[in-house]
Amino acid sequence: MALHEKAAFAIDTEIVENKMILPDVYGITVKAADISKNARAGQFIHVRIDAGMIFLRRPLGVADVDEKQGTLTMFYRLIGNGTHALSKLKAGDNVNCLGPLGNGFSLAEKKTLIIGGGMGLAPLILLSRRLPMKADLLIGGRNEDEVFWEKYFSPYVDNIFVTTDDGSKGRKGFTTDYLPEILDKNHYGTIYVCGPDIMMRKIYEIAKRKEIPCQVSLERRMACGMGACLSCAIDTNDGKRKKVCVDGPVFEAQEVL
Ligand SMILES: Cc1cc2nc3c(=O)[nH]c(=O)nc-3n(C[C@H](O)[C@H](O)[C@H](O)COP(=O)(O)OP(=O)(O)OC[C@H]3O[C@@H](n4cnc5c(N)ncnc54)[C@H](O)[C@@H]3O)c2cc1C
Ligand code: FES
Repeated sequence: MALHEKAAFAIDTEIVENKMILPDVYGITVKAADISKNARAGQFIHVRIDAGMIFLRRPLGVADVDEKQGTLTMFYRLIGNGTHALSKLKAGDNVNCLGPLGNGFSLAEKKTLIIGGGMGLAPLILLSRRLPMKADLLIGGRNEDEVFWEKYFSPYVDNIFVTTDDGSKGRKGFTTDYLPEILDKNHYGTIYVCGPDIMMRKIYEIAKRKEIPCQVSLERRMACGMGACLSCAIDTNDGKRKKVCVDGPVFEAQEVL
């Protein structure tokens, strides 16, 4: 479906909450009734930050929506100018949100496994809520603090498997170390992944050996976010050029990895 056929809104939203979760990770909730009604799991919001010399919007995944309250929640890590400026905004301030943009995850009917690493877990919360059958979840992070996500997912998933690089919580190692064992003991119709490219690539290789379809959410630098500037263009495995902002960010893994 072309972008213009999808409902997308540019709204001056009011911030309900913008709170520090870790020293470099924030969660922001804004009033955005139209976006919350229309957002699908895996879509993103292009956030305009009216501060200093920040000209481009910043893409952030839709982490969750509350359709009744008309709110939208996103989680972001402090990286550069944009995210630092965003973290300074307070409840009652306005921030312009353009979205929901991009496609979303296809919701599988059978039992699924959701895998997220780092901030890649953000857009997977809404996915876990929207799936028709409770999924299992595999979370990876550097240390115990980085796997704080468990509490956001726990009402919507069955088994939660955790890995940390330093072994401070769950299994020591990477999600890709634990995954073969999880797949030996459980049957999944689809695997959903969002995280660093290297992690998604390894997960796809493991899933392919088990013949389990895999959907991945890609992150590329974006400018317009609406298919006009080509800054997010990628080459697919069948030789086509695709734009992550409108053709993605979610793709079938075999198309792009
Ligand atoms: C579809 C999509 C969804 C995303 N969802 C999230 C999310 O839910 N939470 C989160 O913390 N981060 C997310 N990101 C990454 C996030 O957009 C960047 O971390 C953020 O734009 C950095 O902005 P900055 O000004 O702080 O950093 P700077 O490095 O100063 O940014 C400079 C420019 O590079 C771009 N840029 C920098 N890093 C990235 C990146 N990794 N991806 C895309 N553009 C980048 C910025 O948008 C900006 O235009 C997502 C990226 C994409 C493409
Ligand atoms: S960001 Fe402009 S085409 Fe994708």
